[in-house]
Amino acid sequence: MNVQTREALRWDDLDSVKFADESAAVKRLADETGLDADARKRVHDGAIELVKTARATTRSRGLMDSFLQEFGLSNKEGLALMCLAEALLRVPDAPTADRLIAEKISGGAWAEHMGRSENWLVNASTLGLMLTGSIIDVDPDARQNPGDYWRKMTARLGEPVIRAAVFRAMGIMGEQFVLGRSISEGIKRAKKGEGALCSFDMLGEGARTAADAERYHKRYIEAIDAVGKVRGDKPVELEHGVSVKLSALHPKYLAVKEERVMAELYPKLLEQAKLAKSYDIGFCLDAEEADRLVVSLKLLERLAREPDLAGWQGLGLAVQAYQKRARFVIERLIELGRETQRRFLVRLVKGAYWDTEIKFSHQMGWPDFPVWTTKPATDLNYLACARVMLTAPDQIYSQFATHNAHSLCAVREMAQQAGVEHYEFQRLHGMGDALYAAAAKLHEERPVRIYAPVGSHEDLLPYLVRRLLENGANSSFVNRMADAEVPIAELVGDPVAELAALTMRRNPAIPLPRDIFPGRTNSAGVDLADPRVREPLIARLERLSAREHVFRGGNGAICQILSPFDLGRSVGNIGEATGEDVEQAITQAQAAQPAWDALGGAERARLLEAAADLYEAHTDLFLSLCQREAGKTLVDAVLELREAVDFLRYYAAEARRHFTPEGERLPGPTGEENRLRLHGRGVF
Ligand code: FAD
Ligand code: 2OP
Repeated sequence: MNVQTREALRWDDLDSVKFADESAAVKRLADETGLDADARKRVHDGAIELVKTARATTRSRGLMDSFLQEFGLSNKEGLALMCLAEALLRVPDAPTADRLIAEKISGGAWAEHMGRSENWLVNASTLGLMLTGSIIDVDPDARQNPGDYWRKMTARLGEPVIRAAVFRAMGIMGEQFVLGRSISEGIKRAKKGEGALCSFDMLGEGARTAADAERYHKRYIEAIDAVGKVRGDKPVELEHGVSVKLSALHPKYLAVKEERVMAELYPKLLEQAKLAKSYDIGFCLDAEEADRLVVSLKLLERLAREPDLAGWQGLGLAVQAYQKRARFVIERLIELGRETQRRFLVRLVKGAYWDTEIKFSHQMGWPDFPVWTTKPATDLNYLACARVMLTAPDQIYSQFATHNAHSLCAVREMAQQAGVEHYEFQRLHGMGDALYAAAAKLHEERPVRIYAPVGSHEDLLPYLVRRLLENGANSSFVNRMADAEVPIAELVGDPVAELAALTMRRNPAIPLPRDIFPGRTNSAGVDLADPRVREPLIARLERLSAREHVFRGGNGAICQILSPFDLGRSVGNIGEATGEDVEQAITQAQAAQPAWDALGGAERARLLEAAADLYEAHTDLFLSLCQREAGKTLVDAVLELREAVDFLRYYAAEARRHFTPEGERLPGPTGEENRLRLHGRGVF
């Protein structure tokens, strides 16, 4: 076993805690922060002072704050807008986008938002002005009744115009969060911003095609080159850097495609890293979806071991504290730093994909979530991770990215306790300005790096949606800080006390993936992102690939079944059904029906559930058949099997609901029951 394999295995081991039981895991978090009662009090008081100063210096809220305060995620209209923005990302064609707009806009009680915002712009048109991007020509009707105005406008102009306007509105909102359209514009603006340190991020992620990936790669190369050229003479951590999203660099940047990622994505990443090293600037791998964590760490490790990159102190990555694996990632990074005599730039974030992770886990039938389900757990894990980072200043240059006053003050307290002077804070462009201005006023000068997205409209939407979700969520610090009604002490809080006050140490409003459907268990997923699951499964499927099956069919000619993707491979044989076979099957089914009816709801359900369990117990066999007989990818094969299991359990639940154990039909369900039955009680 060579070194590369041995190291790779260590990252794989992280997945043993990917779905750790939250109630048990959170118990240790408060201790892991190392903050005693006095320190917690100092942090709390410091954060209160910070927020007071920040609120006092913020003269009036900006358009975006006012807009999100009025249309955050806590009312139907705000949700409609966020859903619209989010859904437009995936709508493939204009007519569907128009239908979506009509649906989302028409049902809202827009008039109720009239006059509630302190920002006249939000009031005057509620939404219309945002959409047209113009503050002139305000229709007086719009001031009186924005809802009607809006409906009339939709009727008069038609959805295509509104669609264009919605995209324009996204652009206006995006301007808040994007530093420039090109890297040169970004660098120029950064200079104007009194020389603030930046980590430039080229907008664009989730490449769908090789051409997209190539385009994004070129942009990163240009950005590194441009940022490198304006480098001054300070150490790498005091100069601008570049952040890269690995999903932009390859359309198959997926854990299941690890070999291709290593063969095709890695060379691009290496080219970028070498260029960054040649200028000695920071180069940070952004953190994306949880399923990509391990593969991203393997890429990082390869970079860390490249002889051509030896001696460079600019290699970095973002670590998401909302993930249960975060602390272990940091511990292993410290070991890797020691082994490779390297210091990493580590940006600690809470994580921007929380909603996605929850929904995806539900959809995929995972045993649990890779992220915490309560905000205090994430807040505490952030501090627990910070503490570990601060123990190893030779291996980690700590970069704390947060807009939360409590997190900021707690980190400062921990750094003092650890005797670490040399670290930085980070904020996103368009967010946290007031907080860090207050921090600079109250405390010593400390570098605050700005994560500065650069790019154009077409690549903005996914980034923008994450910012809208973050700014619009009423659990989010920035959202609550902008709301003067939230008392400061409550806003600042204390995650240790908040976690201790929870009756359950996980979020009771978020059902575990297996429990999202009332009356039936969700089918179990197969976590193909986990190499400890995936690789043995692939080996077992390989062994099954030679097995010939004799399928029970009819009494006609024997046919050989061939794999659709390789007609040279046989799956087995089946006898074709003759007319007589069909007649006989119908007769047998008709004869069996009365006995089936007589079984009653409970017994029928038991049999259907037993069949579902048998499917799951023979997962390998069915996956193998789905692949070989139907030519499905492994991911699709898993989904196919789960669909069969879900159908069986669904009809089992239906049998129980509609029939007594004696077989009598029960009265029908209400509309609401039907809705729940069909859609379950997922959180979204
Ligand atoms: P807070 O309001 O204190 O925390 C909000 C966060 O808490 C949410 O984003 C979520 O992570 C978590 N949370 C909310 N509700 C719950 C819940 N019920 N259960 C558990 N957790 C919950 N994010 C990335 O994913 N990858 C990156 O590479 C990345 N880079 C960044 C770089 C910079 C400079 C900055 C400032 C942020 C970056 N982010 C990144 C985004 C970052 O994750 C969010 O801005 C951050 O989570 C907000 O945290 P906060 O401390 O500012 O705010
Ligand atoms: C995001 O793209 C900032 O990396 C973070 O949401």
